[in-house]
This record gives sequence, structure tokens and C-alpha cells, in this order.
Amino acid sequence: MDCFHRRIKVRAQSTHTIVASLIGTIAIVSLMQPDWVAGRQDERGLLILCVTSRQRMKDLSHQNLTTVPLNLPNDTEYLDISHNSIQRLSGAPFSGLSWLCYLKMTHCGLQDISPSVFTHTPALKVLNISYNDLALIPDISLKQLKILDLANNLYSSYSIPASFQKLTNLDVLSLGSTVASSVNFNDFDPLANVSLHHLILGAGIGWQKYDSGALAKLKSLQTFSLFASFCGVSKMFDNVLVDLNVTRATSLRFITLFPDKCSVTGKMFNNLRTMPFVRNLTIENTWINSSFMEGFLKNVWLSHLYDLSFVNFTYNEDTPDGFQFRTINHTVNLCSITFNGVHHYQYKYPIINISLEAISNLTYLKFSRSGMNIIPCKLFSVLPSLETLDLSDNLLTNAGFWWFKCPYTSVFPKLRRLSLSKNRFSSLSFISEQTQQMKTLESLDLSFNSIYLDRACSWPAQLTELRLGNNNLGNSVFKYLSSHFESIDLSKTGITAVTQKDLSRFPKLTHLQLSFNSIQVLPADLSAPALLSLYVDQNAITSVSKEVLAGLPRLQTLKAGNNPFVCSCDSHWFVTTLNKSLLPDWPLDYTCSTPPSFEGLSLSEYKTSELSCEMWLQAAVAVPVIIIISAAMGLLFYKCDGVWYTKMLWVWIRVKRRGRKRSHLLKNLSFSYHAFISYSHQDSDWVGSQLVPSLEGARFSLCVHERDFVPGEWIIDNIINCVESSYKTLFVLSKHFVQSEWCNYELFFAQHRAMSVQQDSLVFILLEPIPTDSLPKKFLRLRSLLRQQTYLEWPKDERKQQVFWASLKSMLQMADKSRVLKDVALALSDTAPLVTDQV
Ligand SMILES: *[C@@H]1O[C@H](CO)[C@@H](O)[C@H](O)[C@H]1NC(C)=O
Ligand SMILES: *[C@@H]1O[C@H](CO)[C@@H](O)[C@H](O)[C@H]1NC(C)=O
Ligand SMILES: *[C@@H]1O[C@H](CO)[C@@H](O)[C@H](O)[C@H]1NC(C)=O
Ligand SMILES: *[C@@H]1O[C@H](CO)[C@@H](O)[C@H](O)[C@H]1NC(C)=O
Ligand SMILES: *[C@@H]1O[C@H](CO)[C@@H](O)[C@H](O)[C@H]1NC(C)=O
Ligand SMILES: *[C@@H]1O[C@H](CO)[C@@H](O)[C@H](O)[C@H]1NC(C)=O
Ligand SMILES: *[C@@H]1O[C@H](CO)[C@@H](O)[C@H](O)[C@H]1NC(C)=O
Repeated sequence: MDCFHRRIKVRAQSTHTIVASLIGTIAIVSLMQPDWVAGRQDERGLLILCVTSRQRMKDLSHQNLTTVPLNLPNDTEYLDISHNSIQRLSGAPFSGLSWLCYLKMTHCGLQDISPSVFTHTPALKVLNISYNDLALIPDISLKQLKILDLANNLYSSYSIPASFQKLTNLDVLSLGSTVASSVNFNDFDPLANVSLHHLILGAGIGWQKYDSGALAKLKSLQTFSLFASFCGVSKMFDNVLVDLNVTRATSLRFITLFPDKCSVTGKMFNNLRTMPFVRNLTIENTWINSSFMEGFLKNVWLSHLYDLSFVNFTYNEDTPDGFQFRTINHTVNLCSITFNGVHHYQYKYPIINISLEAISNLTYLKFSRSGMNIIPCKLFSVLPSLETLDLSDNLLTNAGFWWFKCPYTSVFPKLRRLSLSKNRFSSLSFISEQTQQMKTLESLDLSFNSIYLDRACSWPAQLTELRLGNNNLGNSVFKYLSSHFESIDLSKTGITAVTQKDLSRFPKLTHLQLSFNSIQVLPADLSAPALLSLYVDQNAITSVSKEVLAGLPRLQTLKAGNNPFVCSCDSHWFVTTLNKSLLPDWPLDYTCSTPPSFEGLSLSEYKTSELSCEMWLQAAVAVPVIIIISAAMGLLFYKCDGVWYTKMLWVWIRVKRRGRKRSHLLKNLSFSYHAFISYSHQDSDWVGSQLVPSLEGARFSLCVHERDFVPGEWIIDNIINCVESSYKTLFVLSKHFVQSEWCNYELFFAQHRAMSVQQDSLVFILLEPIPTDSLPKKFLRLRSLLRQQTYLEWPKDERKQQVFWASLKSMLQMADKSRVLKDVALALSDTAPLVTDQV
């Protein structure tokens, strides 16, 4: 039970490599991934620790540089200057680099580092100066430093400088020199109070001397990786183990422990039996004999180890009956065994004869990179506690796993997770039928195979996780999967589109991986109510919309980096509003792809203005602005009589149009009225009681707007009609007239006609004296007309009124009606332009 829980815990941590817990779990993760030191994936993990934006990363590796350039941007967070030829590092290029967090300078032939370099870089957390020619371990006292790699240099001793006492945050330290062959008692003293969790020591050579107690001083050590050979010096190795026991380190890793042709026995690990704190042990890059293995495993079986790994070892069967391990008479702690990378010294199948009790507690077994093409089913399938079987990276085929001599009914009694990744498995329907026999199987990994879809598949109901990544399957793959699946990995399977119909097959789906495909759009109607994590990185997606995420209410992880994002309003919501704690790969993997002006820009640095992208905000801003502008223009308009001018312009345009239309018709026209009377409403009493009766009494026909205007027609049209069909236009001028809008139109129009057709068609009656200067400027024309034209003044005196009527009537007499008409026709036909001073 203990084994099981531990394994689950480790797994959970290794999948959530979040910044905060990265360092804390390095010890565990590093054993899960034994090639941690060289692993590219881990360098990436370190990047997340330091880098907030791609723009702040400078890669100057492989540039044939002989010095560090002086003009580095001050906000540089990551600098890789490896693979150049820089013997001396001086402080000058680093002044100002106060953000520098990650400095990598390997393979440069570096011999000397000026102490001033690090006074300029207080934020440094990762320093990798491995693979250089440093003759001394340099003085470093950076408080923030977490990871320091000084391996593969040329210092002659492992004596740590006193300044290392100040590395209070140091977590991982790598030390190694091919010319340092002894470890002295006081070498690690400065590290005694540093919270160092992981020490990697050595350069792969054998040691001359190890002073007992040297390593025992590292009190907080959890993981220790020893990169040294102990051929024939087992006493020294014993002393190392005794000291590691004092540190209470839980994970040990021994690399190149024995080279070829080395005389050792399993007794070397006798101390393991009394090391109660060690849980994980890894043996890497080593030759191993079956005779050594027998002795070694006896110690392991009597130890407190949970987890034993062999990585990249050459196996030599020197005992005639192969590997024998038949009897056991005590309880066994070991529950996890890994063989990762087995090279066989002999070209034959190894003989393994092991008692079932010895491995009865085994919950985890990995047999990888061993060239296996047929599984030893009689051993593997009967392990009573086995929950995880990892046979990845072998040469297994469908027939090599389910071979005829292995009747798999009622076997693998507790198997829950099976990995067949990186093999040669093929027909999916065949595999689905075989899994029916594995009654407890929950998770199956078929990634990196040659899987094809032939017939319908029938999956057992308890199987909920299937990994099919890196098989060429295409869009139809969803039809071959089970509705019980909760976790599906379809990375790099040639999918070009995913639809809601595809997803609706899996009501319980919680994890979906679609990385490395060619998906262009996530449909807006996507709905997966149970989905917790979605991977769509490395596709052809240009934006992730709010609508898509609305259909995924429980989503906790969205990996969408390395897509060709369009930096426009489409990405605005994603960049500004989406909670980035959802995105494990933010911001490093998100860059703009189009438009070209933003290409390569980190999405986190793309600034869309909220204003240009949010509709409601646009409206909220635009409406007041428009109102203010309109108000301002309105005011200006009002002040400058804009309304009047505009209306006049409109009228003028209409007149022009009518003029053209009518000109050729005019020949047959006769006037309907002697006069059109234009007056202000306020003067209608006078017009109604005096003017109209008097003129109509003299048999003049009049057009009076209250009476003769055609109802329903536009008033301007009415005016124009009346003016045109009247011989003269009579204006009753008063203060009210000047103020009346309509009267102004009438005057304007009549003026126009007067100019273009009949010069003397205007008759003005002045009801009351109007000082010409009191007229507004826009009545410039009226002012000048009043000055020029004779007008009739309405006298208060009754006798004078007789004269008034007489002269008015004479003005309205048509001397020669037909001649007038001819003139009108001629004049109208060449429609003279309106004099500009009017508008
Ligand atoms: C330092 O760089 C070397 C060479 O690239 C690499 O193998 C090693 O893993 C790096 N160390 C760390 C701690 O990343
Ligand atoms: C560095 O020098 C080598 C040979 O001297 C040359 O082949 C290579 O192109 C140079 N690299 C750069 C980045 O200049
Ligand atoms: C390891 O330490 C324990 C006490 O913590 C002790 O009993 C045991 O003998 C030690 N083992 C070795 C190999 O020193
Ligand atoms: C391999 O076995 C031989 C004896 O057959 C032994 O002398 C030698 O030390 C062993 N080598 C290793 C690496 O265990
Ligand atoms: C595997 O181990 C051998 C020594 O046994 C070593 O030469 C080789 O470099 C190792 N391979 C890897 C990938 O570490
Ligand atoms: C258990 O095995 C050890 C050696 O492997 C032996 O000394 C001891 O007598 C055995 N005990 C019993 C009860 O068989
Ligand atoms: C984002 O989500 C996390 C966890 O879901 C939460 O702790 C955090 O407060 C959220 N941040 C914002 C800005 O809403």
C-alpha cells in the first residue's frame, strides 16, 4: 500500500512541473527522469524559473566570440554564450544586467572569472559554467542562486571557497573535474549551512582518496549523484555510503560505478542493509555481471529501498545458469524496479530465475530499451501486486505481447497501467479485444507505434485512459474510441479538425491532448462539461475565443502555445482577460505570427487597446464624443446661420433641378397668378383684411399660402410652384417677416428667379419701417434690394393708402403677357448660376 501511494504522489508531481514546486521536487523528478543533468526538458524547466518573455532571452552561442559583447540589453533575463572562445570573463559586459537570471556559458575554454562579474548580476538564479577550463572553483556569493553547474572543469581539488556560505538559496550544485581525484575532510565545509538538496559530484574518474566524514557535513542533502568509478576500492565506497547515511539523503544515483573489466562483488553494497533513509537507488552507465547482480540484489532485498533503477548498463551473464534468485525468507520493501537501457554482452536471451516471493510486492516494473521482442509472460503476468508495467521502447509487436504460449485469461491480477509505447504494435481493434482480458486495466499507452484503424474496436468498460500519440490515425479516430474514456492523448496523430460531434462521444472526458496536429479552429460550440485539461499546442490555431472556453466550465489547464496567433482584436480577450494560471506554457510559447508587423512578438507583450477591440467600450466612448462634436458643430452652425445657409443650398439645388426640367416646357405655360404674396404669419391680419380683398376686388388673381398651397406637398415645393406660376412676387416686409424662416425661403427663391428670369418680378411692401442696417448679415441681398429697388411703404394715412393701392395695382398689370412668357422661357433655359454672395 505504501508503495502505491508513493508512486502516485511522484507521478502527480512530475506532471505538474510548476515553478513553485520545481525545486522542491527535483529530487524525486530527477529519479523519475534519470538523465536529468543532460535533459533538455529540465533546462526548459529552469527557463520557466527565470524568463518572463522571449524578448529577454539572448542566445549568442556558436558565434566565434572572443569576448562577451558590451551592448547587451539591460532587461536581459537569459544569456547563452556557450560554444565560443572566451578565456577570461570580466565585469564590464555585465554592468547593468541587473535582471540577468540565467547565465549559460559552457564550452568556452573559460579559465578565469573576475569576481566583479557577479556584483552586477544580483538576480542570477541559474549559472551553468560547466565544460570549461576553470583551474579554481570561482568565488560566488549570489544570494538568489539556486542552481550552479561547475561540472567538467579543471580544478585540482573539490575545496569549496568560503564565499559559498552566502549561497543561502543554493539548491542544486554540480561539481566535477577530471584532475580532482581526492575529496578532503574540509572540502565541503562552506556548504554545511546551505540548503543544498542535490549534489552532483565527480567527473567519471576513479578517486585516489576520500576522507571519511567529508560528505556527512551536507545536512540538508536529499539527492546525491556520484559520477565516479570505484573499481577495486570498495572500502572507499563503503565510507561514502556511511557518510551519506549521516546526511539522511533519500535518493542515490551512481554513474559509471564500474567500468569494463573490473573486479567487484555484490558485497560492495552491504551497507545498504543498514541505511534506513535511502528510498531510491539508481545505477547508471555501468557494466554489471550476473554474479554481481545476485549479491547486490540480496542487499537490496534486505534494505529499505522502495525504488531501484538500472539505466544504460551492459549485462554480462557470467554465471552458468544465468541469474538465480530462488529463496527469500523475509519481507521485502522494494516495490519498483526499472531497467532502462539494457545492452547484452552475450547475444542470447538472459536466463532469469527468480522466486515469486522476492518480487511479490512489486507494483511498478519497467523494462525499456532492452531489445525485447517477446515478453516473458510467465513471469510478468503473474506478479501479484503489479499495477504498472512499462514495456516502452522495445521491439514488441501485437504477436510478441499476446503470443500463443501465453494464455492471458485471468492474469495480470492487479495491472492498472500498461505502457506499450515506442514498439511495433499495429491493429487497434486486435489490441482492444485483447485488453478485455485485463480485468483491472485502466490506462493503456500505445503512443509511438504503427497503430492503424481497421475494424470497430470494443474496449473494456474499466479502461478510461488511452494514449495514441504519434500514430498516423487522422480525423476518424474518435469513432474507434470508447465512451468510457476519460483521458485521451491524440498528440501528433494527423488530426486536422475536431468537432463538437467528436467530443460528444465522451461524456466523461477530463483530459484531452491534441498537441502537434494541424487543427486550425477550436469550434465555438465546443462543449465538454467535465474537461479539466486540454492540450492544443503546436497546431495551426490562430486565436482562442471566449466562446470556446465558455463550453469548458471546469477547465484548469489549457496548453495552447506554439500556435500561429493572430495579433489583432481576435486575441484581445485571450491576452487581456483570460486568467493565465490556466496556461502552463504562458508566456514563453505564445508569439504573434501575423500581421507581419507583429511577427515574433511575444503575445504577452502585444498591447491591444481595449478601446479598439471592445464594442461596448467603443460605443461608450464614441457616443459622448459624437454628442460633444455635434453640439459644438451645432453651436457653430447656429452662430453662423449654418442652418439657414444649408437649407438655402438645398432649396437652390432643387430650384436648379426644376429649372432644367421645366425650361423646355415653358413655352406653353401661362401664369396662373398675378402675384404670389409672401408674408409673415404675424402680418396675416393685414394681408387678409386689406391686401387680398383690395387686389382680388380689382380682379387680380393671387396665390396666398394659407389658401392656395396644396396640402401634403412639401412647403418649399409649394413656394416654388407659386413663385413660378406668378407674374410677380409680393413681399410684405415687416420685422416679423425678417424673423420668419419661410418668408426667407420665399424671398430667396424669388430673388433667384428675379435674377435669372425676370428682373423686376419682385415687389416690396414695407408695412413698417425697417432700418436696413438692423437686418441680419445673411439678408445682405435684401439689404441691397431695399436700397436699390423702389418699394411701397404702407401708409397709415388713409388718403395715401389710395395711392398705395393704385401703384401696387399698376405694378401687377401685365402689359404684354405673351412677351413676358417668352422672356421667361428664354431666361430659364440658360439657368444662370446663383450669385455666390448668397450662400
Ligand atoms: C549545463 O550545460 C550543459 C551543457 O549544455 C548541460 O549538459 C547541463 O545539463 C547544464 N546544467 C544544468 C544544471 O542545466
Ligand atoms: C566560426 O568559425 C568557423 C571556422 O572558423 C566558421 O566555419 C563558422 O561559420 C563561424 N561561425 C560564425 C557564427 O561566424
Ligand atoms: C545509518 O544510520 C543509522 C542511524 O541513523 C545507523 O543505525 C546505521 O548503522 C547507519 N548505517 C550505516 C551504514 O552507517
Ligand atoms: C564479472 O564477473 C567476473 C567473474 O566471472 C568478475 O571477475 C568481474 O569482476 C565481474 N565484473 C563486474 C563488472 O562485475
Ligand atoms: C551508456 O553506458 C556506456 C558505458 O556503459 C557509456 O559509454 C555510454 O555513453 C552510455 N550512454 C548514454 C546515452 O549515457
Ligand atoms: C534467512 O536467510 C538468511 C540468509 O539469506 C539465513 O542466514 C537465515 O538463516 C534464513 N532464515 C530462515 C528462518 O530461514
Ligand atoms: C486565476 O485563477 C487562480 C486559480 O484558479 C486564482 O487563484 C487567481 O486569483 C485567478 N487570478 C485572477 C486574476 O483572477
